[in-house]
Formats: sequence, structure tokens, C-alpha cells
Amino acid sequence: MPQHDLIVIGAGPGGYVAAIRAAQLGKNVACIEQEPLLGGTCLRVGCIPSKAMLESSHLYEQVAGGLEKQGIRTTGVKLDLPEMLRNKERVVQSLGGGVDALFKKNKITRYFGHGRIDGPGRVVVQGKDGTEELTAPHILIATGSKPATLPGIELDGDRVGSSTEALAYDQVPPHLVVIGAGYIGLEMGTVWRRLGAKVTILEYLDRILPGMDSDLARDAKKLFEKQGLTFQLGCKVTGVKLNRKTCDVEIEGADSIRCDKVLVAVGRKPNTEDLGLDSVNVETDQRGFIAVNGHYQTGEPTVYAIGDVIGGAMLAHKAEEEGVACVEQMYTGYGHVNYNTIPGVVYTEPEIATVGKTEDALKEAGIPYRKGVFPFIANSRARAGGHTDGKVKILAHKETDRVLGVHIIGPHAGELIAEAATSMEFGASSEDIARCCHAHPTLAEAIKEAALAVDKRSINS
Ligand code: NAI
Repeated sequence: MPQHDLIVIGAGPGGYVAAIRAAQLGKNVACIEQEPLLGGTCLRVGCIPSKAMLESSHLYEQVAGGLEKQGIRTTGVKLDLPEMLRNKERVVQSLGGGVDALFKKNKITRYFGHGRIDGPGRVVVQGKDGTEELTAPHILIATGSKPATLPGIELDGDRVGSSTEALAYDQVPPHLVVIGAGYIGLEMGTVWRRLGAKVTILEYLDRILPGMDSDLARDAKKLFEKQGLTFQLGCKVTGVKLNRKTCDVEIEGADSIRCDKVLVAVGRKPNTEDLGLDSVNVETDQRGFIAVNGHYQTGEPTVYAIGDVIGGAMLAHKAEEEGVACVEQMYTGYGHVNYNTIPGVVYTEPEIATVGKTEDALKEAGIPYRKGVFPFIANSRARAGGHTDGKVKILAHKETDRVLGVHIIGPHAGELIAEAATSMEFGASSEDIARCCHAHPTLAEAIKEAALAVDKRSINS
């Protein structure tokens, strides 16, 4: 019976990073994954393939007519969707191979199959050719999540699907209806709109991107509408009727919408089925998330859990941070995640990126703040590149000037947010950022200018 120091169940960003960190700390680590490719949802059917499709569709849209203002005229541009999908697949496969190589380098034993806990310290791997029992003093559950759906809507994997299907439509759907104006709805809606689909996004709430700064979400909606996305807010979808070739999306109190494909993007739910949680004292909450303490320990202290399966922001990088903190806690007694400095990025055009508290949250909590806003139209690099939509907003405590939140909508916002997250991690004030020299001409100068604007002394606006 193979014995290890740590058994990690799941090789997504949380699990594989935790496995590598434990191996770096000198431990004999096993990692069980039921999919052939390592890397989890993020790598196989999430962050990575969606970014490949976002990049490709953006280039297509640009080349097919988005560059005329810059004196670039193109003719005869054609979409080769099968090749675009193959390119996406190549990216996925090569990165998956990279994780494999990292496992070998770190001498992590990979088991291919479904892992089920069988009492403290024991995990049974159900593989293609039978079962194998592993033992270890510590077990880490990092099994991630899967798409949720709505009552009355069954995902048929064809016309009515999740992001997994929407990453691989073999033809551009003439009309795509997306249910949910969150991360997935906006990113995948953007991809297919750029490739030629009519896209209608239905959202239950009266706004898009719940949880993000509402001011930025309003700006984003206007920009997306200019690009051709259609939104229906305050819209309760009650079902989807399948016709011979089309679907009718039924909405409470409104006409149903006929379309060719439906993408259900209303959130994700934890993967906890058939994990043997009953064999140890591991409890889930009402929504199925595994309950853990501050050290990521479940009710059974030798069983830990991290990532989407414990809830919170369902983001790959949040899972990675938790994976590292969890094993460091396990083996060194120290490990910590600062949940206030975890950035979130929506990879639309423009990108939307956020870290820390939103203005809405500060108002609700009665925290006094000052605000500095700088528009990209006043940034020379943005002007030179023709990407002038959007702004940077910095929120700093009114008395201490400590930066409490940074929200960016604009070109490369997803890259720019790293400066904000790092500054916040170091407890920066807005004046600290304002006094840092930023190269000219760069988009990052908009962050410095927004920091100056907190004290009403922006130079360029
Ligand atoms: P989400 O939570 O971001 O958005 C779901 C949306 O569906 C919300 O706006 C919600 O109000 C709406 N909704 C819920 N019930 C509805 C109903 N009955 N009718 C209409 N609308 C309804 O979830 P999403 O987009 O499915 O993404 C899942 C997870 O994956 C998220 O937690 C997200 O953080 C993560 N993700 C992250 C990405 C990134 O970091 N760029 C990209 C894609 C996904």
C-alpha cells in the first residue's frame, strides 16, 4: 500500500500548487486527478481556453475592421473557427504538459482516477483498471467546482450548455442567449459577439457584475452595449424550451426569446460528491461547501480543504494562495492569505480589474474615504494606442490615507491591478503610490495620477 506524507485530491490550480509547495518543503506527495490532463477546470475548460478565445476573437475583430482609424486597411479577412479552436486546444495541452513536467521535477506521484476518502489517513483511488489504497497523515481536498444551473433548466451539453460547451461551439451561433451577467457570461458573450453572433445577456439583478464596484459596472455595461451586446436586467428565467433546431428561453412576465444556443452562467457549485466525506468528520454547509477553520482544517483535523470547494471567490489565484498557505501551515506552522488583496479580473475589452473594497462596501460599512479618479483619455499611452475608454479609481481612508480599494476599467487593467494589489499588501497610502516614479508614457501612470487625484492634485486632468 503506497504511503505518502500528503495526499492531494484534485490537480487544479489549488491542488497542484499545494502539491508542489509541499514537495519543496521536502514531503513525499501524492496527487490524485481523474482527468487525463492536469491543471483542473482553469486549465482545461476555464481561465486558459477562454483567454485563448478572447485573444483570438479580439485579434479577429481588430483585423476585420477595427484598425482603420490607425491607417490599417484589411480585406479578405476570414474566420477559420476550427483552427482557432485547435489553437486553443494546443495552448491547453502544452500547459497541461507543463504541470506534468513540474510534477516530475518535484517528484510528486500522480494517480489517475477518482479519489475517495476512506477514513482518516486513507484514500482509495478508483482508476480505469481497478482500485488502489493510499495512506498519508494528511489529506488535502482540492476538488474545485462545476457549473450550476437553474431550476427548470437542464444542461443538455448541446444547445443548452455551460462555459465548457461555449468554449467549443463548432459554428458561430446566429443568436446566443447568455443567462447571467457575471465573469463567464461577459467573457464568453464577448467572444461570440466578436466572432459574429447576436448575443443577448439576461441577468436576474438590476445590474451586471454583482460584487464589483457598481460605478465601474455601469461604465462597463455602456461600453459593452456600444460593442453590440444586448442586456436584459431584472430578468427571471424560468425555463428553456427546446424546439427542433432552436430554443425558447422563457422569462417571467416577459416574452420568451428564441435563440440557437443558451449559455447558462449563473455561478458554480462545489465538487463534493462521492468524496467519502462521511467516512471522516467532514461537514458541508447548505450550499455544499466544505467548512474549514483558519488553517483550512475540516472537522477531521487531518483532512484539509482549499479552493472553490470551500467557497469564497471562485478564482484560480485564490485557490493557489490557499494551497500554499495550507501546506505551509501544515509543515511550518505559518501560512496566511490576505483575502483583502486578492484581485479579480474580467478579461473583456476593456478589461475590468478590482482589488480591495468597493465604494459600495465602504459606504455600507460607514468607512470614511477619499476618492481619486483618473480617466484613460487623459493618459498619453492610452491615447497613442487608441484605447481611451475607462478609468482608474483609488479609494483611500479619509484619515489615514491607507489604500482600501482600487478599481480599473481600461486597457490592460488585468496587468495594472498587480501594482495596486502589491501596494495594498504593503499597506501603502495613496501618497506612497503618488510619490513613486512611473515610466512615461505608460498606462501605469494612470494609477499614479489617480493616487494624486485622491488629494486633488492630479497633474494631467
Ligand atoms: P458569477 O457569480 O460571476 O455570475 C453569475 C451571474 O448570474 C450573476 O450576475 C448572477 O446575478 C446571475 N444570475 C444568478 N441567477 C440568475 C438567474 N436565475 N437568472 C439570471 N441571472 C442569474 O458566475 P459565473 O459567471 O458563472 O462564473 C463562475 C465562477 O467562475 C465565478 O465565481 C467567477 O469568479 C469564476 N470565473 C472567473 C473568471 C475570471 O477570473 N476572469 C472567468 C470566468 C469565471
